[in-house]
Amino acid sequence: MTVHFIGAGPGAPDLLTLRGRDLIAACPVCLYAGSLVPEGVLAHCPPGARIVNTASLSLEEIVAEIAAAHAAGKDVARLHSGDLSIWSAMGEQLRRLRALGIPCSVTPGVPSFSAAAAALETELTLPGLAQTVVLTRTPGGRASAMPEGEKLAAFAATGAVLAIHLSIHLLDTVVAELTPHYGADCPVAIVWRASWPDQRIVRATLGTLDAAVGTEMERTALILVGKTLGAADFDESRLYAADYDRRYRPVGAEPRFPEAT
Ligand SMILES: C[S@@+](CC[C@H](N)C(=O)[O-])C[C@H]1O[C@@H](n2cnc3c(N)ncnc32)[C@H](O)[C@@H]1O
Repeated sequence: MTVHFIGAGPGAPDLLTLRGRDLIAACPVCLYAGSLVPEGVLAHCPPGARIVNTASLSLEEIVAEIAAAHAAGKDVARLHSGDLSIWSAMGEQLRRLRALGIPCSVTPGVPSFSAAAAALETELTLPGLAQTVVLTRTPGGRASAMPEGEKLAAFAATGAVLAIHLSIHLLDTVVAELTPHYGADCPVAIVWRASWPDQRIVRATLGTLDAAVGTEMERTALILVGKTLGAADFDESRLYAADYDRRYRPVGAEPRFPEAT
């Protein structure tokens, strides 16, 4: 018996890995994390599967569900939105399951920042403009506290592209903190429900964002800030430069690795 943690992707049911789909289809028990996991993904569960929405459950109740499946020898598909490496609460579940001696596996998913960048048809790292993307969130409300030092202003001081999660309700604060670092003309994009049928995109600058957003209430959104958003004026990468001597395309008469050409 194994608990398979599976990244269910950002929303579109076909943004799921083949491995994830096959594991879901093979598990008689499926636990999924509330509203962000689409029904189309649950459609891969086998007939008669026990399907549990964990949105209203505590960690203890979730572990109890899994322990019951373990006692019955039933594999579990544990679905979280996007990828499991960020804000999935997988870490605390893994810790409890390891303590109970319950075997686990982890299958990655498409994270929402990738889906948002795809919706914008944008490469976030463009030569000469930005080569770093910071995946972060803001403190506030009942959410887990942020470690001291992980401040938006500290990340902004580097000029990196910021992909700000879980923060659309604090948009005014985000804009106020970032404007002194990036300038009011810095591009911003907000993508609500990337890859869902009702996906919505607003492109603006830090200075014009407030008016552009209007009264949007939907909370599942990513805020992207940085010079690469929508940029047309950037250097070409060295990767495909004709004079760039590299392993698979050596400059010179004889390839050094003929079998790889
Ligand atoms: C609990 S975190 C989950 C992140 C997820 N594990 C991932 O890989 O993206 C939820 C936050 O991720 C972002 N998010 C998740 N799905 C999204 C989507 N389809 N479109 C835009 N933002 C999304 C939002 O910022 C949301 O508040």
